[in-house]
Amino acid sequence: MAKTKVKKIAVMTGGGDCPGLNAVIRAVTKTAVNQYDMEVWGVEDGYQGLIEDRIRPLGFNDVSGILTVGGTILGSSNTSNPFAYPMILGKKQVVKDVSEQCLVNLSKRGIDTLICIGGDGTMNSAAAFVKKGLTVMGVPKTIDNDLWGTDITFGFNTAMTTATEAIDKLHTTASSHHRVMLVEVMGRYAGWIALYAGVAGGSDVILIPEIPYDIHKIAECVLARSKRGKRFSIICVAEGAKPKGGKMVVAKTVKNSPDPIRLGGISFVLADHLSGLTDLTCRAVNLGHIQRGGVPSPFDRALATQFGHYAIDLLMKGKTDRLVVMKGNTLDSIPLGQAAGRIKTVPKNHPLIDAAKAVGTSFGI
Ligand code: F6P
Repeated sequence: MAKTKVKKIAVMTGGGDCPGLNAVIRAVTKTAVNQYDMEVWGVEDGYQGLIEDRIRPLGFNDVSGILTVGGTILGSSNTSNPFAYPMILGKKQVVKDVSEQCLVNLSKRGIDTLICIGGDGTMNSAAAFVKKGLTVMGVPKTIDNDLWGTDITFGFNTAMTTATEAIDKLHTTASSHHRVMLVEVMGRYAGWIALYAGVAGGSDVILIPEIPYDIHKIAECVLARSKRGKRFSIICVAEGAKPKGGKMVVAKTVKNSPDPIRLGGISFVLADHLSGLTDLTCRAVNLGHIQRGGVPSPFDRALATQFGHYAIDLLMKGKTDRLVVMKGNTLDSIPLGQAAGRIKTVPKNHPLIDAAKAVGTSFGI
């Protein structure tokens, strides 16, 4: 068994959950215990648990049998930022920096390193902790696949599979009733899920934030299908899609979240507009959090296991404050702060867009 300076690590899952988180927790814990004789602790509910001192030992038995389980055994939160944490002082609500308390909660247990599994919000705070002297290793997660610096994040494959299966199901009912069916998928400001699930599900129209649409072109497309005898159409729309010169549809704003905007509802707006323009019957379905739930796909389980193992391996090689990434088919890492504040959107010349256009898919332009 290799000997190392790092003796006690804590692992944490932050932000919105996604399938594969447990596979990373398992890989991190088993690698650290098995190969390096480390002590592993689990932080409950993301930064919330770090602030509130809810940190528990994680042993072999705790992570056994969780590879195939969705969600995260540690819990997560996407509204707690230790550097701007709302609290009541006297009768007033104030926002305070409680990051020092987090460091105390780790150091009193002798924990010297934090493995942060999260998206851009989690990594922003992780990078700020590095500036305060904490050793951090980042592992990228999000179903949206929008984290800058990595070709892929685990969770995306499962989400796009779920979305594709939903499109397959909607196909049959759309066909029976001769309807235009609009399927809204997640992705925030990036159209990865819509693009991949839209193509895999054979959608007639795919709408993504990166390509603002013209409603008249969408109407033209579904009417042309009707004329050709195709009596139904499927439109896969990303929650962040917007019309040319228009805005995204905001469902609500969430206080104290690293990104307070919650998108949602574009499919219903479009369904109304489109039925007015075409006289066709339109129905909208927002898949919502179903895309974040359930059993991780085999691909995501394998990717998450690689990411978790690689994070510990890097640490053992003396590398710290890095974000594990996948470039091409190779595991690599970038400085933790490098991805902060940047997102990876779909390039307009992405080969899958070209292929979709070639098979007759409209992007509403
Ligand atoms: O970042 C993942 C994501 O699922 C987005 O696609 C979606 O807009 C958002 O989270 C929803 O977050 P919440 O957990 O606040 O509903």
